[in-house]
Amino acid sequence: MKLIEADFNFAQRVAKAGLLTATKSDGSMNTMTVSWGGSGILWGKEVCFVFVRPERYTFEFCENGEDMTLSFFDKERKDTLALCGTKSGRDVDKFEACQLKFVAKNGVAVYEDAELTVVLKKLYAQDLDENCFVTDACKSFYQNGGYHRMYICEIKDIIVG
Ligand SMILES: Cc1cc2nc3c(=O)[nH]c(=O)nc-3n(C[C@H](O)[C@H](O)[C@H](O)COP(=O)(O)O)c2cc1C
Repeated sequence: MKLIEADFNFAQRVAKAGLLTATKSDGSMNTMTVSWGGSGILWGKEVCFVFVRPERYTFEFCENGEDMTLSFFDKERKDTLALCGTKSGRDVDKFEACQLKFVAKNGVAVYEDAELTVVLKKLYAQDLDENCFVTDACKSFYQNGGYHRMYICEIKDIIVG
C-alpha cells in the first residue's frame, strides 16, 4: 500500500514516536526511536523525511545503506520506545533487550508486532545548515549536538499489521 491509500495520519503517528530501523549494505541493522519527520510528495514520488543526528549509532546505518523502515506500535511497546530512545546500539543489543522479533511481510523484514511499517528507500541526504535557520528558536536545539541530517526517503510500501 502507498501513502495516499493508507488510512493513517503520518504526522500523528510520528509525533507519538516510532522505531527507525536502518540496514547497512552488509545486512546489519540498528534501531532508534524517532519522533521528528513528515511525509509528502517529491520528485513524483511518495516520500517521508526523517532527521537523524550524526552522533547516533543509527546514523552509520543510515549512511551505509539505503534501506530503512519506520515502525509504529501500540501502547504495549512504550518501554521499547523509551529504551530505544535512550540507549545506544553501541552499548546494548536493542533487538535482544526489547524482544524485537522480525517476520517477513511483502518481502521485507518487519517487527512481528508492529501495527504499521513504512518501508523506505533513501533518495537524498542533507545536513541542516545553521546559516539557513530563520529563527533562533530552531538553533536552540543544537547547543549540545550536531545538526540533524535530513533523509528524504521514497515510501516503497506501507504494511499494516
Ligand atoms: C521520543 C523520542 C524521540 C526521538 N526522536 C529522535 C529523532 O527524530 N532523531 C534523532 O536523531 N534522535 C531522536 N531521539 C533520540 C534517539 O532515539 C536516541 O539518542 C537513541 O538512543 C539513539 O540510539 P543509537 O545510538 O543506537 O542510534 C529520540 C528519542 C526519544 C526518546
